[in-house]
Amino acid sequence: PEESGVDENGALTIGGVSVARLAETYGTPLYVYDEEGLRRQIRRFVDGMRERWPNSEVLFASKSFPAVGMYRVAQQEGLSVDIAGGGELRLALAAGVDPAKLHFHGNAKTDDELRMALDAGLDTIIVDNEDELDRLERLLERPQKLLLRVIPGVEAKTHASQATGGADSKFGLPMDQALAAIERMRAHPLMEFEGVHLHIGSQILEVEQFAEAVANISSAGEFDVYDVGGGLGVKYTYDDDAPSVEAYLDAVVDAARAHLPAEARIMIEPGRSIVARAGVTLYRVTTVKRTGRVFVAVDGGLADQMDVALTGQRFEAVLGNRVLDPWTETAQLVGRQCESGDLLVDRAQLPEARVGDIAVVATTGAYGYTLANNYNGALKPAIVFVAEGEARLVARRETYDDLLATHLPAIEG
Ligand code: LLP
Repeated sequence: PEESGVDENGALTIGGVSVARLAETYGTPLYVYDEEGLRRQIRRFVDGMRERWPNSEVLFASKSFPAVGMYRVAQQEGLSVDIAGGGELRLALAAGVDPAKLHFHGNAKTDDELRMALDAGLDTIIVDNEDELDRLERLLERPQKLLLRVIPGVEAKTHASQATGGADSKFGLPMDQALAAIERMRAHPLMEFEGVHLHIGSQILEVEQFAEAVANISSAGEFDVYDVGGGLGVKYTYDDDAPSVEAYLDAVVDAARAHLPAEARIMIEPGRSIVARAGVTLYRVTTVKRTGRVFVAVDGGLADQMDVALTGQRFEAVLGNRVLDPWTETAQLVGRQCESGDLLVDRAQLPEARVGDIAVVATTGAYGYTLANNYNGALKPAIVFVAEGEARLVARRETYDDLLATHLPAIEG
């Protein structure tokens, strides 16, 4: 995180608070966010987009970090919000997000969710398919703004599970079928068709791919709105190289100037690139094993950092309670779940680790909390925001009673 330093005991500080104190106070594993860094990153997107294309809107892809505290920060900083289901809708509304700032995505929305969204009066529904139009025909009682998700035909250079814009995508309609769906919306008295949406995938490191998507989408026709999705990749490991927010915005806006109508409204939907680098995860070292290799095992793992298994994401880590100690060992930083794929850092350079050390895994602000699960009975970690020497709890840790809560009624009944 940007607001980090080292205290007099050699411990890493985030937002002016030492990770040793955070671990002591809130327990581990713990998701910690540098709130100032988070807000600064949001402003780079909001201000950067406004400068380049005033008729624009930046949506936070809330699936990347769906915490009520985060929705609140998004609202305060002038972001709109993209939700992809009834759960995210409830969280956003609970945080006080203005329904006029909400945009609803999803390739399999249910009647119940659409009803919730329509009742809430949200701004735009991004229609994925013709079945969804059938549902809307039944449910609409008032005019509703709609976008249509189309497949832009860009094979994003990223992990296969993170590519969503290629010809075989399950999301959206291919261009030839999109035209029929657009006709249908235009013919319906309550459907206010505004334009198209695309999303080529996530953790994309070449900005040219976004420009290519914008160019491709222009062939769908001239519309009032173009939502060109999210997907900007971030730097996770020392070896990675990621484009800046500004380089990304330049690429999108240059392509828009070349291919889209000058009066069109342009929306972007960053998730990962807003939250990833503002967050770290704190773990307590529980086991150090020196066999052929050195294994440093911690009290969390893929249950709270699912991407290590889903996409093979690797991170960097430090021993946060003594960051100034020299690196003397190459270790496998592993989690505690019963999977060999539960590897947080491959060949971590660390001081000689001891039980009780605090491992700080960096760049875990996106999709970590999102994908947290109860594998091996793991409890979802708490979330803390730190700023100016103060920490505040944004979500508490799950308890064993939380784990039992959904089962007990069935057992007792
Ligand atoms: N818009 C739509 C319609 C999306 O589906 C997504 C992400 C985004 C925007 C935001 O993309 P971002 O800027 O965060 O890359 N489980 C995977 C990530 C899945 C991304 C899903 N969609 C992972 O953790 O790597």
